[in-house]
This record gives sequence, structure tokens and C-alpha cells, in this order.
Amino acid sequence: MNGNMIIKNAAELVTCSGFNAKKGKEMAELHIIHDGAVVVKEGRIAAVGKTKEILTEIEKSRHDLTSFDAIDAANKAVLPGFVDSHTHFVFGGYRAEEFSWRLRGDTYMEIMQRGGGIINTVESTRRATEAELMKSGIKRLDSMLSIGVTTVEGKSGYGLDKDTEIKQLAVMVHLNNVHYVDVVRTFLGAHAVPQNYKGKEDAFIDYLIEEVMPDVAERNLAEFCDVFCEKNVFSVDQSRRLLSRAKKLGLKLKLHADEIVQIGGAELAAELGAVSADHLLQASDEGIRRMSESGVVATLLPGTAFSLKEPYARGRFIIDNNCAVALATDFNPGSCFSESIPLIFALATLYMDITIEEAVTALTLNGAAALDRADTIGSIDVGKMGDIIVLEYPSYKFIPYHLGVSTVEKVIKAGNLIYDKEKGGIIHC
Ligand code: NIG
Ligand code: FE
Repeated sequence: MNGNMIIKNAAELVTCSGFNAKKGKEMAELHIIHDGAVVVKEGRIAAVGKTKEILTEIEKSRHDLTSFDAIDAANKAVLPGFVDSHTHFVFGGYRAEEFSWRLRGDTYMEIMQRGGGIINTVESTRRATEAELMKSGIKRLDSMLSIGVTTVEGKSGYGLDKDTEIKQLAVMVHLNNVHYVDVVRTFLGAHAVPQNYKGKEDAFIDYLIEEVMPDVAERNLAEFCDVFCEKNVFSVDQSRRLLSRAKKLGLKLKLHADEIVQIGGAELAAELGAVSADHLLQASDEGIRRMSESGVVATLLPGTAFSLKEPYARGRFIIDNNCAVALATDFNPGSCFSESIPLIFALATLYMDITIEEAVTALTLNGAAALDRADTIGSIDVGKMGDIIVLEYPSYKFIPYHLGVSTVEKVIKAGNLIYDKEKGGIIHC
């Protein structure tokens, strides 16, 4: 495991080349190299081009390739690893019963208002030990890795008290250290109003600002701060107050915005210069316009709309209005208990009028941009991290075409082969 790798003869080397979020029309540009090769040296991408040219260069420079692993990707497509930029994957307990209630007609918000939903998971996450959260976290990361995810974002928000919020974040620090998949941490203390603060939402925001956030920032437990800005959860004013303080403490901003009711979440994201605004099922035209102007990434989560039987976010409209769109799973125990990237591809392309090319950008470079990492991951460009996937098919077009099933054959993380379907799965060293 030295991070040295050469992948050659790729039918399609889908580079997704770029170092910034792609907006609007740019999202369709995948910069494909046919019969492509990529060289990764000590974890970083060192060369990208036609196989013939790369091999000639190597020969000319008399580079010693003995320490390099080689993958022959003939008849296969090669892409950057997927970036799942919005999940809540560290939690205790499950909510299968609530899923069956929703099938009977109860809405997500009705269940939440009678003390179920997020609060239900809060109770089980408070009870869970760090070891239990680690165990389930590793299992979930293994599953993500096997479908091509090389970087994932994870949120706290199932504690709603200082100890448990910090426990969740600390578990993610540990997971990031022990697992191949990179874990980016977001503080989502304002995910719901805990029972002891019912009707005192402003006081809960004060508690988060004064008691919890300073520790989170000082101990570097999170890079982002997020809030569930929603009718009957946290208002625009409360969200603004929380996020403004987070920004002062050096945290970057994200919002769960306009998911169920249009209350101006997209506008607030633009006003505060958030890195991303997520969900946006009900976002206004004006909010979308302002997000485009301010360069806020619009992270769309079609798995959630599907699972809640809500109308999808207006993907086509948002791209046509020159926004940068990322797609993510929102993996969580309630509104979308699925880490399936294939499902997201299927929903985005079949139901949101997003093209396959745009969906690929949304799950690679723009996913990276939603995590403020477009300069280091999300594309196959020289200098970036060697996070690469090899499909079992010759074209990226097979990703949504093979409906709901992973087409990923190999995953390379920082230049090391860590998953190979043909060798039985994850390669433990
Ligand atoms: O993004 N909307 C708020 N939060 C999550 C759901 C979390 C849960 O139901 O546990 C979401 O959908
Ligand atoms: Fe979410």
C-alpha cells in the first residue's frame, strides 16, 4: 500500500476535469479521454492522458515502475470516486415502524411533531456507546465504499445535547482515522428542538451558540455547521443567528433549506455565503437566482423526496438557472434510509430531468465543491488525490442504465486498490 498505481487502456477515462464547482451548462462537460491512462504516485495523481502517450512518456523518462500496481481497464470506464456530500450516517437505532406509518399515510412532519422522527433517533443515539456507533459506522462506510464512495460527509444532530453531539462528532473523527473512506464532519446541533426546549427554540439556539459550538470549533470537531431551517423547526431568523455565530468561529455553512415549506432558506444561504443549501424541494425562483449569483452549491437529495413521496426538487430549472448542483443520498434512519448511489442516479436522470453527464458531475466534482474540496478531490486531474473507480462496463452511461445496481468493479483510494468485486470485495491490509 504505497499509493503508486497505473490504470491503463480505459475505454473511457471520465476525468470530470476541474478545480471549481461546475455551474449550469458546464455540468455537462465530462472531459473524457478514450483509451485513457492515469498514473498515481504516492497517493496523488501524477499524469493523465492517452494510454499510448503516458506509456511513451514513462519509457522516455526511464521511470521505474516496479513499485506501481497496474490495472488494465480495457473495456471499462474509469471515473473519480463518488463524493456523497450530505448524510447523517452516525446514529443509534432504526425507525422501520415509522416507515410503515408513512406508508399508511402519516406525514414525516406529523410523526416528528408527536415526538417521533428525529427525536426518536436522538433517544437511541444518546443511549448508544461510542463502540456501538463505531461498529455500525464502519459497516455503513464499508457499504458506501463498495458502491464507489471515497469521501462522505456526516452530520451530528442526533444528540441535541453537548455530550451526545460531541460523541457523534468524535466517532466520525475516529472513523475517518480507521476507515479508507474520508469522513467530513458537520455540526448539526440545530436539527430538531429537544423535548426540554419545546416552545423555547430561541433559548435552544442560545444554548448551542454559547455552550456547544465554541467547543466544537475549538476542538476542530467539525468543519461545517448546518441547521434544519424549516417551518415548525428553526425559523430563518434563528438559523441566521446560529449560522452567523458559526461563521465567526470559523465554521463553513450548510443549510437544510426549503425542504417541506418555502420559508426563504435558499435566500438565507445566499445572504450568508453558505457553501451549500440542501434539499430545496420548495425553493423559490428568487432564492435559486440568488444562490447562483453567490455561488452556493445546490445539493439535491432525490432519495429523500422519493422516500417521503414529495415532489422532486426542480433539478432542470436549477441547472438552467446557472447553479452548481450536487447530488447526495441524505442517508439517515428516517426520511431516506439508503446510501444507494445507484438509486440517486436513477431518480435524478429519470425523474428530475438531469442528464447522465450532469449527474456524474453532481456526484463527483460538485459533490467535492459542496464540501469545499473541489481543489483536491472530485476529478481526475494532476495533483488531486488518487481516488478513482473502475466500472465493470465500458461507459459511464451504464451507471443509471443498470437500474438501482452498482456498476463499480474496483475502488482505488489514494492510489491503493481497496475494493475489487472480482476479488471478493474490500481488500483489508
Ligand atoms: O435531511 N430534514 C431533516 N433531517 C434529515 C432527516 C433526519 C431524520 O429523519 O432522521 C433530512 O431529511
Ligand atoms: Fe439531511
